[in-house]
Amino acid sequence: SNIPVIAIDGPTASGKGTVAQQVAKRLGYHYLDSGALYRLVGLASFKRGISTASESDLIPIAKNLNVIFQEDRVILDGEDVSDQIRQEEMGKRASEVAVHTGVRQALVARQQAFRQKPGLVADGRDMASVIFTDAVTKVFLTASAEARADRRYKQLIAKGFSANIDVLLQDLRDRDARDANRSQSPLKAVEGAHHLDTTSMTIEEAVNQVLKWHQASQ
Ligand code: C5P
Repeated sequence: SNIPVIAIDGPTASGKGTVAQQVAKRLGYHYLDSGALYRLVGLASFKRGISTASESDLIPIAKNLNVIFQEDRVILDGEDVSDQIRQEEMGKRASEVAVHTGVRQALVARQQAFRQKPGLVADGRDMASVIFTDAVTKVFLTASAEARADRRYKQLIAKGFSANIDVLLQDLRDRDARDANRSQSPLKAVEGAHHLDTTSMTIEEAVNQVLKWHQASQ
């Protein structure tokens, strides 16, 4: 495909979602939040009482997700679940369902279908390594664990959820370990990826850096 893709991979709460969305907006590109798909499998399975360990039960759920992405809302089976899937518990369930090969495979075509004119910004863990290996611009976006825990804390409080910074930091480290150590599509930078450490950067600075790399690649 000659439709350009900007792949932004990185750990949880690194700010890649916000950066990816703003880059997409500035370029008029489409946006894929691949983590939302794993969170949706986590939520849909939870609602049906299915364990995150049961790969064979999770695969049909992943294949048949009845989801609509509308602006910044996510509709599952006709219900707005945007806030539910953002909760820490769903992030944890997402990382548990994401270890299964069959679940990941069931989501490949759905992710690739987001690649439409004039272009796509995709964020996740394996955008450059598996889903869009021919992405024209690849970014590995990180921030220190402390900075990420702090950002997640502020996000949750702003949404009216309660949060504890020490618990968040521990959860984050657990999730990082699970994402980096799994055998299937572990989180790691691909060759040719631009590294962007946003620990002491503003969102605006990060967005501009990604846009610069993308312009240079065209
Ligand atoms: O990015 P986000 O925190 O929403 O992702 C939730 C979880 O989904 C991650 O911790 C990861 O385990 C999984 N995930 C994945 N591959 C992706 C995106 C997310 O395995 N492309």
